[in-house]
Amino acid sequence: MRKPLIVANWKMNPLTFKKAEELFKGINKEFKKAEVVICPPFIYLLSSKTKFSLGAQNCSCEKEGAFSGEISPYQLKNIGCKYVILGHSERRKYFNETNEIIGRKIKKGLEAGLKPILCIGEALKEKNHIADVLKKQIKQSLKGVSQKDAEKISIAYEPVWAIGSGSSCPIEQAKSTALLIRKILSELYNARKIRILYGGSVNSKNASLYIEKAGMDGLLIGGASLNPKEFLKIIKNISKLYSL
Ligand code: PGA
Repeated sequence: MRKPLIVANWKMNPLTFKKAEELFKGINKEFKKAEVVICPPFIYLLSSKTKFSLGAQNCSCEKEGAFSGEISPYQLKNIGCKYVILGHSERRKYFNETNEIIGRKIKKGLEAGLKPILCIGEALKEKNHIADVLKKQIKQSLKGVSQKDAEKISIAYEPVWAIGSGSSCPIEQAKSTALLIRKILSELYNARKIRILYGGSVNSKNASLYIEKAGMDGLLIGGASLNPKEFLKIIKNISKLYSL
């Protein structure tokens, strides 16, 4: 069985370098049963020697040049980044990222040698047509991505209403949505090799259910990843599943 992917999205936290160092230290363990990826703000990516993989929360869709304020996926790769989260609903909402822009970032990230984590998910008002929403997000952002490259991508299903709200997606719904995503992907690819993750109010109580009962291949964790004790507990609970 493939190791689950557990991704920590620190978002725009913490505010000081010292606190970031403390966070890194608090979770700097060797994880044998799961691949753990920490995605801090860009400026902390270089701050610590870590035992886990590192990822960014965004990247430019351009390689280099006159793009003030942007960070190239090539620069991320060069400092040891392995993953990049793309298309998070906060990027879509506050920075007007469209599926087309996200698709360009995915392709540039792949070209640079990064593994993209593509976030998709419906807003509360779209609840009655989840299939259409997810299909559009997947098909438009993966347009032009080859089978070989698609295998490097993980899809993170994050219903917008579950992010940071404390109301996580019911396990049954997560299970049927994972199947739906697998079906959409299989219209484009041999989809078995593409990981599907769940994100949205994950904590140490519900984390392993998404893997064990909903059939997810990993998790994308926001709030709970800022608490080392809780985050380690999540990893421990999931590792237990893989020890059976
Ligand atoms: P949350 O965030 O775990 O705090 O809900 C998840 C995310 O936005 O990736």
